Amino acid sequence: MCGIVGCIGNGAVEVVVEGLKRLEYRGYDSVGIAALSKNRLKVVKDAIKVEQFLKRYDLSEISDTRLAIGHTRWATHGIVSEENAHPHSDCKGRIVLVHNGIIENHHELRERLLKRGHRLRSDTDTELIVHLVEENYKGDLLEAVRVAVGSLVGSFALAVICADKEEMVLAKRMSPLVIGIGDGMIFAASDVVALLERTKRFLFLEDGDCARLIPKGIQVVDSESGREVERRVETVVWNVEDAEKEGYPHFMLKEIYEQPRALQQTIGAHIDGANLSFRQANEVEQLFEGVRKVSFVACGTAYHACVVGSYLLRDFTRLDYSCDVASEFRYAPPPLDEKTVLIAVSQSGETADTLAAVRLAKERSARVLAVCNVRTSTLVRLADLTLFTLAGPEIGVASTKAYTSQLAVLCALFSHLATFAGIGLDKRDGELLRKGLLGLPMRVRQALEAAEEVTDRISKEFFRSQTFLYLGRKYNFATAYEGALKLKEISYIHAEGYGAGEMKHGPIALVQPDYPTVAIVVRDSVYEKMLSNVEEIKARKGPVIAVSSVNDEKVKRLTNFIMEVPEVSEPLYPAVCVVPLQLLSYKIATLRGCDVDKPRNLAKSVTVE
Ligand code: M6R
Repeated sequence: MCGIVGCIGNGAVEVVVEGLKRLEYRGYDSVGIAALSKNRLKVVKDAIKVEQFLKRYDLSEISDTRLAIGHTRWATHGIVSEENAHPHSDCKGRIVLVHNGIIENHHELRERLLKRGHRLRSDTDTELIVHLVEENYKGDLLEAVRVAVGSLVGSFALAVICADKEEMVLAKRMSPLVIGIGDGMIFAASDVVALLERTKRFLFLEDGDCARLIPKGIQVVDSESGREVERRVETVVWNVEDAEKEGYPHFMLKEIYEQPRALQQTIGAHIDGANLSFRQANEVEQLFEGVRKVSFVACGTAYHACVVGSYLLRDFTRLDYSCDVASEFRYAPPPLDEKTVLIAVSQSGETADTLAAVRLAKERSARVLAVCNVRTSTLVRLADLTLFTLAGPEIGVASTKAYTSQLAVLCALFSHLATFAGIGLDKRDGELLRKGLLGLPMRVRQALEAAEEVTDRISKEFFRSQTFLYLGRKYNFATAYEGALKLKEISYIHAEGYGAGEMKHGPIALVQPDYPTVAIVVRDSVYEKMLSNVEEIKARKGPVIAVSSVNDEKVKRLTNFIMEVPEVSEPLYPAVCVVPLQLLSYKIATLRGCDVDKPRNLAKSVTVE
């Protein structure tokens, strides 16, 4: 969840600073840099954000260095403080390292190192690693790191440097780490986004790899055997502009407005508009051959996409299913066997709980289908087949364009499974859904235009509210949860998503004149039932903000505010209904003065359990 960046070559500190700015969305409690200058390691770190750090510290003293590493932290072990910020140093300050991940046997290691006389200065698990490296260092840093990681239980991506040489050593286990190849420069980073300005050519380390980077080249070895291994150089397709704000005040707002384009690209990649066919038909049919059950798994927003997926499955196929948040999956996994397809949905492809669920499913012989936005991610490497979302890099912590793209991919998938003999329920329904999908980017654009002015008014009216209730049914059951999650994560207002039918089983007790309810009441199969729920809230004088289909006079009369969305077929409503809710959350959060792209306590990818 933290960010790592490193560089060997002229201007190393500049590259690291640039990378840290780009990586801050992965964790932003503290920041630090270490550089080799005149045979000494200089470490500068603090518990502040990158921008303040660059104002407070003068880095000119190390600007001519050719070796530097840097880190932005999301605290796991130890409070947010300068001592706990990375890089961490060994006893003599000759070796320093930065780390992403969690070391599970840290208690035992701490005791052992203290007994052996090491001076520990922080409460972190990371610092223990650098002392283990120190114990094993006899002039060969790669060897010292390789032996040290053998004592670690847990996950790590490490970048280590030593005052003796111009080299950097990396190690990886269940936490992403890449090597970038530039012109006369070599880079390391936990995320390609850090380096897009410098290179498109990357080498992706695998679990168990240790690597030595020197100005003249790269050596990768297996950490257990010490034997050399080959890793392919791959070219990434993302551009640096994709990871810039391009005039928008926040990435989140830019990404909300990018949705029509992201959908256009994603849908175009899966549906051939000329003959309305599903492009990956053969691979999907092969994967689903003889399958009886689908198990959906994901976290957060991606889980809400899975909930929509589970409704698609019920409407379009005769398959059995389960749908779990990945963080609970391993405690009581559903039945998994060779006749199960596990559908894992993830923007980043690096979410630790989702990956753990995938590994477990593979152990039990299930087939794995990933829906993912990052081609080079761990999830994609683990999956038997991936259906990509083509949303481009999503930097805002709150997921927006990745979500609607995930919904589009799931609609495309089930529109095809609907036509698949033995699985599908109705070929015609599948075709109609594919047709509707082709028009979705335009509908989402219309939803955005319609939401602009009304979300201004609603946000001004309600931004001081303490709490919100979000209600929806069937496909928009997931929209209610997603709307509530968007609001709470960026505005810190308590918000609850509920299936509207559950309202009478408890939440209705909360309804009163200062308790706003957001109800998703569109012209679908549960429209009348949603209207009844709205009546019940109005009868108790609760203010209602509705997401409604265009020109719905009934809903207009019944509610205080409406956010209109264009009419689409029922399974496509979640993708248009979520749009005004994203915009509303964004505007409420900015009116409250919240840092929308870096909400407190959060990080973009949850790469630890
Ligand atoms: O990268 P992933 O899609 O696997 O991430 C899953 C969740 O961590 C993510 O959706 C999170 O809930 C977002 N902050 C929601 O906006």
